[in-house]
Amino acid sequence: MKLSTALHKQMNDQIKNEFHSAYVYLSMAAYMETVNLQGFAKWLRVQAREEAGHAMRIFEHLIDRGASVTLQAIDAPSHKFSSPLAVFEQVKAHEVGVTKSIHQLYGLALEDKDYPSQVFLEWFVSEQVEEEKTSAHILESLRMIGDNRSALLLMDRELGDRGSSAGGASPS
Ligand code: FEO
Repeated sequence: MKLSTALHKQMNDQIKNEFHSAYVYLSMAAYMETVNLQGFAKWLRVQAREEAGHAMRIFEHLIDRGASVTLQAIDAPSHKFSSPLAVFEQVKAHEVGVTKSIHQLYGLALEDKDYPSQVFLEWFVSEQVEEEKTSAHILESLRMIGDNRSALLLMDRELGDRGSSAGGASPS
């Protein structure tokens, strides 16, 4: 079956949203480098790569469905951050926004009785549960750490251990 016009458009929009997420996290990674938190920077770099992977999943789905891909301009991300805590407040809020857009897509696929898109989007629905959980966990840890530099450095080391696997695990 063909994608509906609305679902097709929103999938194209979501490709942009996912690449925008990659840009946002890459900008945050650059900031973390400037404050010498290389573990946080690595975590965010990995996150940026995963977001580009999310965009490519949708790209491939459109191709598989015989639907056109229309790449859009990506807005410049913010590049000024006041603290690691402020960064992760934004990460959490960003992921909540992404979840909303994924749920809108899924809702459209349900309305359309577009079963292939529903199955395809289920991965994203689950992924967003992980994304929100992980970002909330890091945010809460940063709140607990407060001004404790040694605890922050310990967390930096821990986050630097993040692998570069695609998907969900420890921050996905
Ligand atoms: Fe692609 Fe972080 O959601």
